[in-house]
Amino acid sequence: MRCFSNTWLGPRAVVAFAVAAVIACVGGGWSVAAASRPVDTTPADAAIRQWVRYPTIPDHLSPQAELGKRLFFDTTLSASKRMSCASCHSPAHAYGSPNGRAVQLGGPHLDRAGTRAVPSLRYLDHTPLFSLDAFTPGSEDAEYEGPRGGFTRDGRAASRQQQAAIPLLDRNEMANADPQAVVAAVREGPYAAAFRHVFGAGVFDDPAQAFADIGAALAAFQREDPSFHPYTSKFDAVMSGRARFTAQELRGYALFNNPRKGNCAACHIDVPGPGGRPAPFTDFAYAALGVPRNPGIPANRDPRHVDLGLCGPYRRDLRAQARYCGMFKTPTLRNVATRRVFFHNGAFRSLLDVVAFYVQRDTDPGKWYPVLHGKVVAYDDLPSRYRGNVDRTDAPMDRGKGAKPALDAGEIADVVAFLRTLDDGYSATAGGPAVHPDTASAGGGTSRSHGATATGPPRCFPRPRDPAEAYLFSPTWRPTPGPFVAPL
Ligand code: HEC
Ligand code: HEC
Repeated sequence: MRCFSNTWLGPRAVVAFAVAAVIACVGGGWSVAAASRPVDTTPADAAIRQWVRYPTIPDHLSPQAELGKRLFFDTTLSASKRMSCASCHSPAHAYGSPNGRAVQLGGPHLDRAGTRAVPSLRYLDHTPLFSLDAFTPGSEDAEYEGPRGGFTRDGRAASRQQQAAIPLLDRNEMANADPQAVVAAVREGPYAAAFRHVFGAGVFDDPAQAFADIGAALAAFQREDPSFHPYTSKFDAVMSGRARFTAQELRGYALFNNPRKGNCAACHIDVPGPGGRPAPFTDFAYAALGVPRNPGIPANRDPRHVDLGLCGPYRRDLRAQARYCGMFKTPTLRNVATRRVFFHNGAFRSLLDVVAFYVQRDTDPGKWYPVLHGKVVAYDDLPSRYRGNVDRTDAPMDRGKGAKPALDAGEIADVVAFLRTLDDGYSATAGGPAVHPDTASAGGGTSRSHGATATGPPRCFPRPRDPAEAYLFSPTWRPTPGPFVAPL
């Protein structure tokens, strides 16, 4: 649980005061954001800014990382010879899934469905080592003690090097029979000489070592290549004073931070970390949110199939620890609007629905969960003995049936408008100015953020009442019709 310190004077308090100041129209003129220089500073603009140190861009990749780049895009490393890492982690989609499938098809004939949605590979650099009792002290206002860190949604891989072995050998993914098969593909492939050059002339004599080296090269590519951590979102531009939020984005930002409203920042941290490290939008910790079962995942037709996250089935060391069952890692929200399915099982297809789920999950459970024998089965993707693990203490999930949701429909739309500022591609450089407005519409779907600017006197921001936006206020999610198979 994330508890708030009594003083409420952590970084989020600063954010809250800054946003309040801007919303209260403190400050002077409201001018068009210049494309190439910081926007004119008002006291309110200055209050919202944060000191951030963006990573320096290396002149060139190390030889290991260059090799990792070739491996990442190499389809011969799969049993089908048609699937590479990039098939699921598409660079054009923030290294997330290029399609709208909840789970991907892999295996030797690309017809075997996986069981989890593909996460983005961006912004994983500061993933802490997995620990069961990580503690975030009260200096942050979101204090937390519990499991945190590690790679994959259940933290079972200690490093990206180790993680690479999972998709290469998973029979639903790249489906190689064993590490030797992967090593053989590299040895017979076009960059075998480069591989020897980097890892030693005898590298192929020891397949176990060569397989580990393949993982090391893939990890080096993800660590070094700037495309994995560009920090070119509108959010970054605003924080460095080079753009302004629209009125709606600003309201969303305030709700995202408000502990009594969205409270999103308690887990999706939106303030810089140690040394000015840019906001990660995750705390890398685990929570059970009770996401509905997704009947679209073929494995879910079997009532014995349950994905319990930390306590299995893929992670094995915590199987006996019932209190962790149902917990999944908090993903970064950077680039979240580029995704087409959400949560570990891809049960949701729109951000409006995701945010509505957070605030209405317990106030209106019949909207989110199926009905069995006349009763709503809340948290239906978990066997009933683990349903008590679902987080009901952190706002906005702390309200009972029939209570008023923490956010109304307009506020949900505001939060989503803010989430859309987290997509990379708004600026050309980290924390940089907007790409020129005339060319922005070509820039990776970021043009929608460019309503940032307005002219005229200082203004307050009433919520738009445009009936054309009404569809925004009625989230569309319904439990997928069809046979509901309750997990055992
Ligand atoms: C068939 C689709 C698919 C392919 C191919 C694939 N992945 Fe993934 N990747 C996934 C899924 C699904 C997950 C989440 C797995 C889990 O939580 O158990 C994931 C997770 C990851 C993670 C952990 C992310 C995090 O948040 O901790 C990394 C790193 C990663 N993949 C890298 C790779 C690399 C490198 C390759 C190529 C060797 C690769 N993936 C190939 C689907 C794929
Ligand atoms: C208690 C911690 C916590 C709070 C508070 C929280 N989240 Fe999350 N969030 C998570 C976890 C854990 C997941 C992953 C759950 C899963 O996959 O089952 C997640 C996933 C998401 C996702 C899906 C991302 C993806 O890539 O699939 C979105 C979007 C999201 N959260 C937005 C929000 C918003 C908006 C708020 C505030 C209204 C919020 N979250 C509040 C912990 C939290």
